[in-house]
Amino acid sequence: MEITIRTGDVLGEPAELAVLLSLEDAALPAALAALVTPSDFRGRAKQTRLLFAAGAGPKRLLLIGLGKPEKLTADHLRQAAATATRQAQELQIAAFTLGINGDLPLNANVTGQALAEGLELGAYRYQRFRTNLTDEQTFTVERATLYGADATALQASVAVGQTIARGVAFARDLVNTPPNVLTPAALADEAIALGKRLGLNVTVLDKAQLIEGGFGGIIAVGQASANEPRFIVMEYGQPSEATPTICLVGKGLTFDSGGLSIKPSDSMATMKTDMSGAAAVFGAMQVVAELKLPLHVVGLAPAVENAISGNAYRPDDVITTLSGKTVEVLNTDAEGRIVLSDALHYARRYNPAAIVELSTLTGAIIIALGPHAIGMMGTDQALAERISRAGEASGERVWQLPLWDEYREMIKSEIADVKNIGGRPAGSITAAAFLATFTGDVPFVHLDIAGTAFAEKPAKPYDAPGATGVGVRLLSAFLREYGG
Ligand code: BES
Ligand code: ZN
Ligand code: ZN
Repeated sequence: MEITIRTGDVLGEPAELAVLLSLEDAALPAALAALVTPSDFRGRAKQTRLLFAAGAGPKRLLLIGLGKPEKLTADHLRQAAATATRQAQELQIAAFTLGINGDLPLNANVTGQALAEGLELGAYRYQRFRTNLTDEQTFTVERATLYGADATALQASVAVGQTIARGVAFARDLVNTPPNVLTPAALADEAIALGKRLGLNVTVLDKAQLIEGGFGGIIAVGQASANEPRFIVMEYGQPSEATPTICLVGKGLTFDSGGLSIKPSDSMATMKTDMSGAAAVFGAMQVVAELKLPLHVVGLAPAVENAISGNAYRPDDVITTLSGKTVEVLNTDAEGRIVLSDALHYARRYNPAAIVELSTLTGAIIIALGPHAIGMMGTDQALAERISRAGEASGERVWQLPLWDEYREMIKSEIADVKNIGGRPAGSITAAAFLATFTGDVPFVHLDIAGTAFAEKPAKPYDAPGATGVGVRLLSAFLREYGG
């Protein structure tokens, strides 16, 4: 969508639809105050009213409440803007105007970015495999015109928000793509295409190269599938004094059947989303390159299908991973940590300032935090705090769990260096402890996005049914702050 900035009075300009985001109990403009009583609309968070008007100004007016100013966050704006796009789409209105009523306690940079993200993300839908869609179903909103005072700051921050939203949409598309189409090779092709588009250096290792290179974890998990594994490396920028290296690592299970420790049918459906960590890394790489951030960013993704065949890896197997460390497999459904062990070890060759890894790693994190927070565990508190702040700023909030030595004890094995499950207690933390075995002294944060990557009935208007694209906004905020 095209977003233009104007100064002036949104209610004074002609439009098919004008949207007014209004703080709770902020006085409405005189013309409106004569029509709308506080019992009709007082601007409570999420409250909406649609009015029809005659005259030279807007033909329709959508009031959206922002709630109390002291409680207002960027996410309220993001949600309200998404509600505006959804309404326009429903009313089949191709261009609308949007203004704000009341004094926002947020600056123009935060406001412009959040509004742009909401406007764009509210329009997202996944229709690739729908045939015979009606014109109504494919109707797209083409333009939004924002009315605000600080046009220069709004212009710049809207552009940033739109770039981030495109990164989120890219991640959502990858996750929503069915697993018969988005195989490991297809995911690798997406990386190559991204590299061509944005000038990233992309390297893909195929099965023969993985065997040759000693990627024992990726090979073991991927060996049952006819869709052979790939290891994807995407590099933006060059390492230098001024541009520290950040490694982003994403779990890329294009499908997780559980393997021989097979999942029950009800938990197996939706396991195409098990590459959401990789998708977040793809989306973030796109954002970083488009915003030309002053950093050296390396995106790594093991792309693997966890399938079943006579050649499947099995419980009781012992695997020698890329690091040389050995893993006793006790459950083939705890496969993410195994493929990630190779990727995390590989990351160390860049001598990075930080490794941030995202994965739909454990069902246990869904039990702990539900769909409202990403689970975070890390080996470096300063890095974890940066990620926490990025979570608050982006609206993709994280909640930290401890990674004490006691948890590392829980994954020690009798017959190998570590075992791939630590029992039911603290399931998300023992998974993180397993990962931390492979990152050495490099500051490392693990983000468990199993609860936040996918929603059949999303709670936020900027999310659509299916993939959320979680992680892209968070990583973008983190990297912009790191490189800024
Ligand atoms: N991909 C799953 C985790 C998952 C569960 C993601 C639900 C999204 C929604 C992961 O590979 C897995 O199966 N983990 C097991 C680990 C267990 C065997 C220790 C789990 O969480 O049950
Ligand atoms: Zn699994
Ligand atoms: Zn998995």
